[in-house]
Amino acid sequence: MELVTNSLKILNEEDKAVLDLPRISEDEKSTTTRKLYIESYGCQMNFADSEIVASIMRENGFTTTSKIEEAELILLNTCAIRDNAEQKVRNRLQHLVPMKNKRKNVKIGILGCMAERLKTKLLEEEKIVDMVVGPDSYRDLPNLINEVEDGHKAVNVFLSREETYADITPIRLNSNGVTAMISIMRGCDNMCSFCVVPYTRGRERSRDPHSIVKEATDLFVQGYKEVTLLGQNVDSYKWKSSPETSVAKSPDGETVTFANLLEMVAQVSPDLRVRFSTSHPKDINDEVLYTIKKYENICNYVHLPAQSGSSRILELMNRTYDRDWYISKIDRIREILGQECGISQDMIAGFCTETEEDHQATLSLMDYVKYDNGYMFSYSERPNTPAAKKLKDDVPEETKSRRLAEVIARQREHSLERNMLCVGKTYKVLVEGFSKRSNEQLSGKNDQNKIVVFPKENFRKGDYVNVLITECSSGTLIGKVVLGE
Ligand code: SAH
Ligand code: SF4
Ligand code: F3S
Repeated sequence: MELVTNSLKILNEEDKAVLDLPRISEDEKSTTTRKLYIESYGCQMNFADSEIVASIMRENGFTTTSKIEEAELILLNTCAIRDNAEQKVRNRLQHLVPMKNKRKNVKIGILGCMAERLKTKLLEEEKIVDMVVGPDSYRDLPNLINEVEDGHKAVNVFLSREETYADITPIRLNSNGVTAMISIMRGCDNMCSFCVVPYTRGRERSRDPHSIVKEATDLFVQGYKEVTLLGQNVDSYKWKSSPETSVAKSPDGETVTFANLLEMVAQVSPDLRVRFSTSHPKDINDEVLYTIKKYENICNYVHLPAQSGSSRILELMNRTYDRDWYISKIDRIREILGQECGISQDMIAGFCTETEEDHQATLSLMDYVKYDNGYMFSYSERPNTPAAKKLKDDVPEETKSRRLAEVIARQREHSLERNMLCVGKTYKVLVEGFSKRSNEQLSGKNDQNKIVVFPKENFRKGDYVNVLITECSSGTLIGKVVLGE
């Protein structure tokens, strides 16, 4: 299966059950009859966007359903990051053809990054699609749906420099009631040569911090215990207040950095855990690291994608750092946050011109860092990206697959090694629900973002418990609850 060779992640045992399944909307209680079914693909930001879409749609008389057969509107919120992400959506559309033939009134909309990348071409290529809506156009959905209902095809793929959906309260879909995502920024101004995101998500913009803190506070009041602040490059979050809203009444307003924002969210409550993703090695700084250290409820975990361990490849990727710079960031994280701090990576195997020596450099970087976890992919050329325009996708598929398999195998060894260091230690775990395997076991995460499974006893989701780790696999820590620290 191409899917598995081309975009393998090291997944926690708990995650394996949902490998490559899209997330679908759930049943909302409703008094209206209009039903919407949303299926989300891609990254957490897309899932967070689907929650904004559900909110906009509810204001316009639609409630979500998990039963596609009762929906009059089907939305696929799509990803374009790799070719197989797009193929998955195209296959899904093929599967929907018989249903669309039977129920002529059902309307199908494509949202998200694939919509933005392909624009009207999607309507030409996929005849069953009625509507194509880019990530900055969700407020326009009600109008677009009206157009579709009037018998037209509808498209809005304008990208905005301002839109952050700051005032929209997301409707939490498939929520465990304990953890939630908060989008803090949109778009990306980096130009990593392999990446389609700057073209599908537009320019980087940060959301008003007050609306972020309000969302976190509301979630906490509703019983949520953990928020993850989301952005493509959270460390470059920057928001400038106007003089009127400036707390210090400064005539120029004041600037809120990511470290400031982290602190503001951490102060919502010591019982609200704060996570964030994704950090870019060029932007994460000491101020952020010291803020993580200062607050017990900001998790000791950094996702720091490397993409490659070879400085030559990093330059071709336009990542703007080299191997030594990356290593110095890792050293700094360990210096300030300790050896225990969880660190995970993203790696791309088989980028243009990658030699065996470059590949070995990636493996040796992994040996140096010993990441707790990783998300690994083989390079997939994306049309119109700088790499597609200027470089040759010249590493043969078999070589890419073999290198990817080696990277994954190395990560598995390191994950196991790092997890074994946890055996015999006790961690504060936030319970998220039953373990995927048994209703007698609960599952949650520790500070370092490791999945911890333990016997249920009388504990419930949303509880913080101290778990003594007794054994582990490369993906899971296993233990039992102990009283006290
Ligand atoms: N903003 C994040 C990553 C977003 S995309 C960052 O800069 O780290 C998530 C991951 O997908 C990337 O880290 C990269 O490893 C992978 N990826 C992106 N484009 C890719 C491509 N063309 N082929 C293979 N993997 C890719
Ligand atoms: Fe893509 Fe690079 Fe932006 Fe990440 S930082 S979204 S990899 S362009
Ligand atoms: Fe995919 Fe778009 Fe996210 S391309 S990874 S859904 S930003």
